[in-house]
Amino acid sequence: MVKILDGKVVRDKIAEELTKKIERFIKAPLARRPRLVIIQVGSLPESNTYIRQKILFGKKIGAVVNLQNFKQKIDERSLINQISRFNSQKNIDGIIVQQPIPQHLDKNKIVDSIEPAKDVDGQTSINFKKLIENDPTGFVPATTKGVLILLKHYKIPIAQKHVVVVGRSSLVGKPTALSMLNKDATVTVCHSKTQDLEKITKLADILVVAAGKPKLITKNHVSKNQVVIDIGINVVGEPINTDLVGNRLDKRLENEPPGHKLIGDVDFKEVSKIVAAISPVPGGVGPMTVASLFQNLLEAYKE
Ligand SMILES: NC(=O)c1ccc[n+]([C@@H]2O[C@H](COP(=O)([O-])OP(=O)(O)OC[C@H]3O[C@@H](n4cnc5c(N)ncnc54)[C@H](OP(=O)(O)O)[C@@H]3O)[C@@H](O)[C@H]2O)c1
Repeated sequence: MVKILDGKVVRDKIAEELTKKIERFIKAPLARRPRLVIIQVGSLPESNTYIRQKILFGKKIGAVVNLQNFKQKIDERSLINQISRFNSQKNIDGIIVQQPIPQHLDKNKIVDSIEPAKDVDGQTSINFKKLIENDPTGFVPATTKGVLILLKHYKIPIAQKHVVVVGRSSLVGKPTALSMLNKDATVTVCHSKTQDLEKITKLADILVVAAGKPKLITKNHVSKNQVVIDIGINVVGEPINTDLVGNRLDKRLENEPPGHKLIGDVDFKEVSKIVAAISPVPGGVGPMTVASLFQNLLEAYKE
């Protein structure tokens, strides 16, 4: 029987832990709540739904989340000036730039203008270098951290295992591969030019997929006893009609992003008949990413 790696269960456990911690912290004299600033440029519908998940989670645990929305045509200098302003504000603990940002802005320059100590999504080059060097003082990107915590929760060891990561983006694939390496796995990274993907993925003990290609991984790519982590989030079909207004907060957090049918990069129906454990989409890595972002925020706050 396949084991389902349920990210919602783990997210809720983390939410409880973080709520208790924040309640404890704010009892101290003059203490304030942890504060996250989300920078959004423009107003992409997908980004809006991901941002809403972060705001809801923040509200649930008692953190403050401020959404700073800037016009689509803002220039690089003005945006960097705004980020510098947030960097210098002592009551702001974490800053993230919601991706994607418009093409006229240099993504690396914008992200690197975040003070590394407030870079709670681990996207600055300083935090990336710390990841390369296995320096624990850096922030691990939220999605990667979410994957590690999901595996830990289900007592799935990483050390000495062969981990195959499909995808090599700076946002997900590379940091996840590096983190696995830091945890003493033997790591293979695959990408769109990889030959014989099926042969390589079949050799994995843990197969992590972050390609953004619906059902890329089929029953032909997997073997029994494997653990499969599906990071992919692909929105398919028309938005579904969800009147979420008035629903309980917990209910609204269930949907990531609300109002859309989502599928992963793995053909869940077929693959789950073969492997030992698998994370579903939705309900697997998605909720973990939000929870881990706030774990990082609390670390930044404590500092
Ligand atoms: N669960 C979450 O919280 C979360 C967070 C972030 C992202 N995501 C999702 O994760 C997925 C990946 O995101 P991303 O930002 O890493 O995307 P990305 O920047 O587009 O990178 C995709 C990677 O997959 C590789 N790839 C594409 N087609 C492939 C194929 N046929 N065979 C093997 N490799 C292939 C690409 O190879 P090349 O380098 O050769 O082009 C690239 O390295 C997306 O679905 C995204 O929505 C989920």
